Amino acid sequence: MTARTGKASLVPFSIGIVGAGQFAGQFAKLFQLHPGVGDIYATDLIPERAEKLVAAQGLAGTVGSFDEMLATGVDAIALFTQRWTHGPLAVRALRAGKHVYSAVPMAVSEEETAAIIEAVKETGLTYMMGETSHYNPATVYAREKVAGNDFGRLFYAEGDYVHDMDLGFYDAYRYSGGEKWKETASYPPLLYPTHSIGGVLGAWRTHATSVSAVGVTDDRGDGVFDREISQFGNDFSNATALFEVSGGGSFRTNEFRRVGYPSHIRESRFRFFGTEGSFEQLATVSFWQDKTGVQDVSEHLQAVPTLSADDPSLDNVAPALRDAFISGTAPVHDRSRLPREFAHAPNGHEGSHHFLVDDFVTAVNEGSLPSVNAWVSARYTLPGIVAHESARRDGERLTVPDFGEAPG
Ligand SMILES: NC(=O)c1ccc[n+]([C@@H]2O[C@H](COP(=O)([O-])OP(=O)(O)OC[C@H]3O[C@@H](n4cnc5c(N)ncnc54)[C@H](O)[C@@H]3O)[C@@H](O)[C@H]2O)c1
Repeated sequence: MTARTGKASLVPFSIGIVGAGQFAGQFAKLFQLHPGVGDIYATDLIPERAEKLVAAQGLAGTVGSFDEMLATGVDAIALFTQRWTHGPLAVRALRAGKHVYSAVPMAVSEEETAAIIEAVKETGLTYMMGETSHYNPATVYAREKVAGNDFGRLFYAEGDYVHDMDLGFYDAYRYSGGEKWKETASYPPLLYPTHSIGGVLGAWRTHATSVSAVGVTDDRGDGVFDREISQFGNDFSNATALFEVSGGGSFRTNEFRRVGYPSHIRESRFRFFGTEGSFEQLATVSFWQDKTGVQDVSEHLQAVPTLSADDPSLDNVAPALRDAFISGTAPVHDRSRLPREFAHAPNGHEGSHHFLVDDFVTAVNEGSLPSVNAWVSARYTLPGIVAHESARRDGERLTVPDFGEAPG
């Protein structure tokens, strides 16, 4: 494939960014560079944030509110609001005739998930969740190994999202939650399940059918993860879930927020075991193994930084979180499909941002199904929602509902 060039062959569509906080800037930049995108507007409950984003990146302008954004002629909405808010906003945007790109997670309940799928089915519009693990180098590598049948029969996998609160999250939640930040900093780890589940299911073609999960009650006593204060009634700061999958086998995910681990080096890690081959990853190393030996594939999966941590575009991002936003692609990534405008553009989360933006823009431009479409998003999100309920019920094994694969 060759890199696409220029705007001539495309009809660019307009985007309204909703939520101009810490994450939106990175994506605004990429949407703006993509030849398939035209005007970009921004809105935020805190108007100065939208104004700052528009000024910093030379976007088309600000809009007063989400409702006003829906009333404009923008073709698509990109949601970068707080993690528990996406479901209802996505449905309202779809019902208003807008394509939707949503930051993770898709939703926080089965009902919200079902409503998005229903709205996508009825409107025929594009919905995509921006799950960065879908393009995590380990997941891309395992996806290739699955395609080549190198694992034999896959029967077990592990996905970890291990990010300690002390490594940037206190700052991020203060920025995000204002005076009442402790109420939302307790967001349940298993309701943010897509980085671990999406990295597993992004490679393994299956879905979760049941789950049993265990939560660890926090004991720091600083008012975060305190049930009395928590908006979510949550006091788990670490959680582990074991999922049974369709076709036989299982995968285990860890969602850790109190953990002695250097998440700035690598925050999502994966392992896959098949009857013929296996793959194991730690913070700095990755190995392919079969019955004859071990191959060190660490370099092949190592994303190379393309931005300096003091780049002005990272102003809103807590210093301890910036490593995630400066990584470029790894050798395992095939950049040939990306527009040439992305060649020197900022990237992030182990090189995934470029691919997610291109997937969404291409799907809207071509009327095709994006990689992490509504049905895939549900399979990446809903198992975590059910796992959180299982943890609340002392590990009771619960059935995970499935909305199936995207039609047609
Ligand atoms: N690896 C990843 O995929 C990754 C990494 C970081 C963040 N995220 C996701 O990105 C999203 C945004 O994260 P963030 O750190 O930028 O959050 P943030 O709290 O910094 O920013 C959210 C912004 O949305 C605004 N907002 C909320 N509701 C709104 C509404 N109805 N209308 C207009 N504005 C509204 C808030 O005022 C705030 O400025 C989250 O869902 C998070 O989960 C994903």
